[in-house]
Amino acid sequence: MRVAFGNDHRGFPLREKVLTALRRLGHEVIDVGTFSPDPVDYPDIAEKVGRMIQRREVDRAILICGTGLGMCIAANKIPGVRAAPCHDDLTAEMSRRHNDTNVLCLSADMLGEQLVDRMVEIWLSTPFEGGRHARRVGKIAQLEEEARELLREQGCTDP
Ligand code: RB5
Repeated sequence: MRVAFGNDHRGFPLREKVLTALRRLGHEVIDVGTFSPDPVDYPDIAEKVGRMIQRREVDRAILICGTGLGMCIAANKIPGVRAAPCHDDLTAEMSRRHNDTNVLCLSADMLGEQLVDRMVEIWLSTPFEGGRHARRVGKIAQLEEEARELLREQGCTDP
């Protein structure tokens, strides 16, 4: 798979671990950084990665910040992104099975390296179950469409 990857300064300590796991599993990685521990704003990184999902330049993405929360909130503002902050094997698995997540958000502050290794592998290999869950995910897409429609009605030419 093509997988976009991004981290802020607080995600920096976990960065190499996740990149190594992605490459070991044979994925093509598009790494937007940040490449040093110098402070950056997580919404800027989440936007770069989220846009790649939106434009379908990548299949999936992984974002890391201190808690995994800021990245997730920011990424979910971009239409087409379904990001989840996952904490363990089960949330990584269920976010794929039921929610068809395309962005995995990780906390560098709270997750150990071994756990992250396993979560990345589980998240990338678990299929979406479809069926009733497809109907529900479709309703999320419908909410995004309604928001775009509202912008169009307000005269926005690029909603
Ligand atoms: C950055 O200080 C920190 O707020 C960020 O990494 C993340 O935890 C935000 O949710």
